[in-house]
Amino acid sequence: MIRNNVVLVGFMGTGKSTVGKMAARRLGWTFVDSDAWIEEKTGKTIPELFGEQGEAVFREHEREALRELLNGENVVLATGGGAVLAEENRTCMLEGGLVIALTAPVAEILERVRGDRNRPLLQGNVEERVAALMEKRRGAYDFAHVTIDTAGIEPAAAADLIVKAVRSRRL
Ligand code: S3P
Repeated sequence: MIRNNVVLVGFMGTGKSTVGKMAARRLGWTFVDSDAWIEEKTGKTIPELFGEQGEAVFREHEREALRELLNGENVVLATGGGAVLAEENRTCMLEGGLVIALTAPVAEILERVRGDRNRPLLQGNVEERVAALMEKRRGAYDFAHVTIDTAGIEPAAAADLIVKAVRSRRL
């Protein structure tokens, strides 16, 4: 039995937080962002965690965040783009809620993440970083129960599609 939560997965810049907040409001559920939870718990920003302790330590916090945050009900959880890479996390997500992958055209992703100092994996040449990571993560989001392509649609429309997916699932 899958829990009554929504788990948003997708590459950085696909709009998980923006769309997730809107969907949560419409459902009357709580929105949580796993990166924000980790920052609050550790008292450090994501770049500080990566810089001071390394990615592996960040991934441990992320694993714990998913377990903790998917323990309840009526939560819309926005996960970090790399959370799907660990099989244990994918299992936790599939049991923890309706897993919805957001996809967006690479041009839109670049538009959103360009100049962002809070994403350690995209520092430097952002075009190259995004292209390399996308290649490396090809297919990584395909395990989701539902995929929503946000190309050319407003965040509000994507949020509506999430609400519809939740409601049709419950019937
Ligand atoms: C990451 C995505 C980020 C954040 C961290 C690593 C990734 O979250 O968890 O910088 O590996 O794709 P967003 O997808 O919310 O940007």
